Amino acid sequence: MKGIILAGGRATRLRPLTKITSKQLLPVYNKPMIFYPLETLLKAGIKDILIIISPEYAGHFLNLLGSGKEFGAKFTFEIQEEPRGLPDAFIVGEQFIGRDNVTMILGDNIFDDDFSSQIKGFHSGGHVFAKEVADPQRYGVIEFDANNKVTSIIEKPTHPKSNFAMVGIYILDKRASHFAKQCKPSARGELEIPDLINFYKEAGELTVSTIKGIWEDAGTFDSLLRANLYWAKKNKANL
Ligand code: TTP
Repeated sequence: MKGIILAGGRATRLRPLTKITSKQLLPVYNKPMIFYPLETLLKAGIKDILIIISPEYAGHFLNLLGSGKEFGAKFTFEIQEEPRGLPDAFIVGEQFIGRDNVTMILGDNIFDDDFSSQIKGFHSGGHVFAKEVADPQRYGVIEFDANNKVTSIIEKPTHPKSNFAMVGIYILDKRASHFAKQCKPSARGELEIPDLINFYKEAGELTVSTIKGIWEDAGTFDSLLRANLYWAKKNKANL
């Protein structure tokens, strides 16, 4: 199992903070944001990790993270020239993935769940994660049956069929790059992750687990503040 952290993007919602640095380098309590998705992958035993970054602050990521040795891992860096959407991670990462399975995590998604059992137990197909939320119409909404088989994923539905949002960590088999290349840009000009995931759903090979712990997509001022407060509290509780 290989890992990808998708840490490029424009981060327009965090301007002006992100006019001088990358979103994923901003602090979340006592460390840069990217440490959280990185630690999520490391905790699940993933040691071969591709970090996808935008050209602007590439040097800063390299300075911060280095070869990976300090983390007991091996890091590879790739530049995404333009933010073409989340499935592009599997196109930029095609060579890195090779014929392996891959877990992709968004560089601004912060979890405290442990994904080890799903990652270590994964063989083929696709596996995604869902979190129950109060306002599902803001997210990609996922419906699934009693066997945790996914029956639909709909982006920002007006009438959501469930309260479960698909969160930013995805375990996919080696077909991910092939499927990503078949996705077409949406009206906003990006490749969309539900379109990629739907290839696995159509093949009847998509399962889901629900997560219980926190999930912050730290891409807005409010969610960034919540993430800071949550980890400040958690760190102090552990003192
Ligand atoms: P988003 O939060 O959807 O996009 P963004 O970071 O560009 O922010 P904004 O909407 O405020 O302009 O991205 C989710 C994560 O994926 C984040 O870590 C950035 C990353 N990303 C890429 O690396 N490349 C991309 O093409 C896109 C769309 C996102």
